[in-house]
Amino acid sequence: MTVLSVNINKIALIRNSRGANNPNILSIAKDCERFGAHGITIHPRPDQRHARYQDVFELKQILSTELNIEGYPDARFLDVVCKAKPSQVTLVPDAPDALTSNSGWNTQTHQSMLTEITQQLQSHGIRVSIFVNPEELFIEYAAKIGCNRIELYTEPYAAQYFTNRDKAVEPYVRSSAYAHELGLEVNAGHDLNLDNLAFFKHSLPVLHEVSIGHALVCDALYMGLEKTIEAYLQCL
Ligand code: PXP
Repeated sequence: MTVLSVNINKIALIRNSRGANNPNILSIAKDCERFGAHGITIHPRPDQRHARYQDVFELKQILSTELNIEGYPDARFLDVVCKAKPSQVTLVPDAPDALTSNSGWNTQTHQSMLTEITQQLQSHGIRVSIFVNPEELFIEYAAKIGCNRIELYTEPYAAQYFTNRDKAVEPYVRSSAYAHELGLEVNAGHDLNLDNLAFFKHSLPVLHEVSIGHALVCDALYMGLEKTIEAYLQCL
């Protein structure tokens, strides 16, 4: 089974654009759960332009499914997640001003830093996932680091999907099998949508979780949140 974690950063972005609390991301998160989502993801960045650090604590209080917090592990981020103790932290190497994540970690170069942070998070009972491009070297070093999962960066798959989907998915099929062989669980995310998700899910030998935000929120503008979540679950 592949679970769906709904990334609600875009909802927080709309909220922040007017300074008040509409839409209320806590209500939206609860509704995502009610409509069948298996978890909620947010990605607080240092400028807090989408999700804020305070959202992490508030979501943790009210959710009955899993909370996944993505982000670059600077001191503030680590302090927040170690206090809030979400189910999962996904470590992402994005620069503070990045528009969105645009690459996975070089787990070889950052092995010692990521090992230390992984151990710190795991000592708080948090499952650790490391965001990587679908390359064997980075998966091999993720396993050496001792994280629980990798999250495969799927933007290149999505970009190539309509040109040659068999070729586009091939590195992800290999990476998923290799991660499984090394004892790692496999997540995936970025630019997954109603066109490319089912083929991705059914091609990979192992896929534990997808986290999807941008396309899902865009679809919800037309289809409504309940029908949209149902459609994504159908793909899985
Ligand atoms: N995974 C990571 C690490 C991300 O940074 C993002 C975007 O915040 C996603 C998944 C979800 O990507 P999208 O919004 O394109 O579905």
